[in-house]
Amino acid sequence: MDFTAYYHIAFRHHTIMNPLSDDVLHQIGWHCFPDSGRVLDIGSGKGYVSLFFAREHEAYCVQVDSSPIWTEAARQLFAGEELLGSTEIHCMDAADFQAGTGEYHCILCLGTAPVYGGFSDALARLVPALTPDGVLVLGEISTDRPLPGPYRRYLSRQDWEIPSTEEIQRDLAANGLETLFAFRSDSREWDLYMGLQWKAISDYARQHPADEQAAEFLAWARKEQEMYLRYQRHYADWTVYVLRQAR
Ligand SMILES: C[S@@+](CC[C@H](N)C(=O)[O-])C[C@H]1O[C@@H](n2cnc3c(N)ncnc32)[C@H](O)[C@@H]1O
Repeated sequence: MDFTAYYHIAFRHHTIMNPLSDDVLHQIGWHCFPDSGRVLDIGSGKGYVSLFFAREHEAYCVQVDSSPIWTEAARQLFAGEELLGSTEIHCMDAADFQAGTGEYHCILCLGTAPVYGGFSDALARLVPALTPDGVLVLGEISTDRPLPGPYRRYLSRQDWEIPSTEEIQRDLAANGLETLFAFRSDSREWDLYMGLQWKAISDYARQHPADEQAAEFLAWARKEQEMYLRYQRHYADWTVYVLRQAR
């Protein structure tokens, strides 16, 4: 299946493309970000998280995303707010983006650690780019309970391993990081994030009744929906960690 095409449709109605509310962004901004600092946003999507830092904290935001559609949407978003002077937007594989050492007061990696091959590889690549007091804001899924067989098989067919909190904490310690905040998404944030995808795919399939790819996308969305409602919602969490280098 063409997952790039699928997600461009599924995320059509999202602003932030993660189970993350504005309230969490406000908490991170207020407590952890110096006004007019520099932000690096890895897998920046439509630019809504960067826009928050540019608008509320006069940040300069370096956005990196591989999607021409999302980077163009981000450009239009910043242009509409007359904030193009507060950002640069790179349409490229973030794994190839060279971040300077000690350059960023805040690095956002929200659901995008797989860009680097996984959680601990993302830490190894991103931590050196932080200023000494800078924060790494990492959104990651985790599970602390044995998973039922059908869910385990579904994940393994996608080559998807969900780490435990213990594994995450071990990786954070090994990379010399302390946790300042850990915001677990609540069920409403998750449900909205998932529901927006189901609705967008369902609408698309209705608008394209004779399209085989639309039917394939709908079948995939229904399988994801079943796994989410039966398992993911009950067995997994999505947490935004706010981290900085320990002294
Ligand atoms: C789940 S979305 C998150 C977007 C954004 N961080 C947000 O919270 O709204 C993941 C984003 O990562 C981007 N992405 C996926 N693989 C990438 C890669 N190798 N390099 C750069 N961006 C990538 C996708 O295009 C998508 O915009």
